Amino acid sequence: MKRIGMLTSGGDCQALNAAMRGVVKTLANSKENVEIYGFLDGYRGLIYSNFRMLTGKDFSGILTKGGTILGTSRTPFKTIKDPDENGLDKVEAMKQNYYKLQLDCLVILGGNGTHKTANLLREEGLNVVTLPKTIDNDLWGTDMTFGFQSAVDIATDAIDCIHTTAASHGRVFIVEVMGHKVGWLTLNAGMAGGADIILIPEIPYDIDKVVDKIEERDKDGCRFTIIAVAEGAISKADAKLSKKEYKEKMKKYPYPSVSYEVAAAIQEKTGREVRVTVPGHTQRGGSPCPYDRVFASRLGSEAGKLILEGQYGFMVGYKNREIVRVPLEDVAGKLKTIAPDASIVQEAKLLGISFGD
Ligand code: F6P
Repeated sequence: MKRIGMLTSGGDCQALNAAMRGVVKTLANSKENVEIYGFLDGYRGLIYSNFRMLTGKDFSGILTKGGTILGTSRTPFKTIKDPDENGLDKVEAMKQNYYKLQLDCLVILGGNGTHKTANLLREEGLNVVTLPKTIDNDLWGTDMTFGFQSAVDIATDAIDCIHTTAASHGRVFIVEVMGHKVGWLTLNAGMAGGADIILIPEIPYDIDKVVDKIEERDKDGCRFTIIAVAEGAISKADAKLSKKEYKEKMKKYPYPSVSYEVAAAIQEKTGREVRVTVPGHTQRGGSPCPYDRVFASRLGSEAGKLILEGQYGFMVGYKNREIVRVPLEDVAGKLKTIAPDASIVQEAKLLGISFGD
């Protein structure tokens, strides 16, 4: 008999359900007897012992469903060792609940913050297997995270829709893409949607270079310009500020987000009409794309295999087109960013895309 605890933590994304289904189906198709304890709303469920016993039926029909059947929440790693408002030691509570239920292992699905806590639980002696979810694709140790391709599809659709209206009106259009502190989603959706300018956090921009590109397009007779801006994009000047100086600047920041700052600067420098579109959380919503359904199922099935083999302390990842097992201590606390000279960036530049650098 194996007793498995499962939870999804952090921002949701597409294919979380597909991944959990992959784990459970793999276990169910083995000879092992398995009990599944689904902790609700992320680590909170494990801390406060809020769980549901799940059976195969709970995982039937969820391959195509977005979101997570377990619910999720953000439980910041920064404060995980601080007692809660009632003085409860959260880490100790998670351990106690794990031991009380006599779990053999925890299957944890999440992104960066989630992996830091998962690694902490591993260090505390719990058996943990993790799966890499996030639309940001910023987890170290895996070339791809599930949710990413589905989000690329949605962000690309948004850029496609903007293209036709931008062309009709001859406007400059900004589409702000999610991705937290990295530019994977913006770069991929921007290239897929034929953006003329792509601004990502890894390549700080110079607004004059952005304006140069717009004016160059004007001269070439192009009536419009599409700019894909990552929500974490940053100007060269801001990138030079110390953390403290940047914090001070943000206190008086008059814009809802960086896209509006870029828009205002372009408007002022060119007199052109600029519009901003923010698809926001739609990028995390809806059904997983076929790629993510297959990908998450494969990762889930490998996680099931790890559990059957009694191999713990790994994230199931994807490297060079192979499913791999990555030690959790190697993953936790590292961010996978785009190298400014990565071949995809160089190729985009050869296509004429400006990064404003
Ligand atoms: O990490 C996924 C993500 O969607 C990021 O792209 C974004 O910055 C963040 O989560 C938004 O978080 P929240 O859902 O808490 O607003």
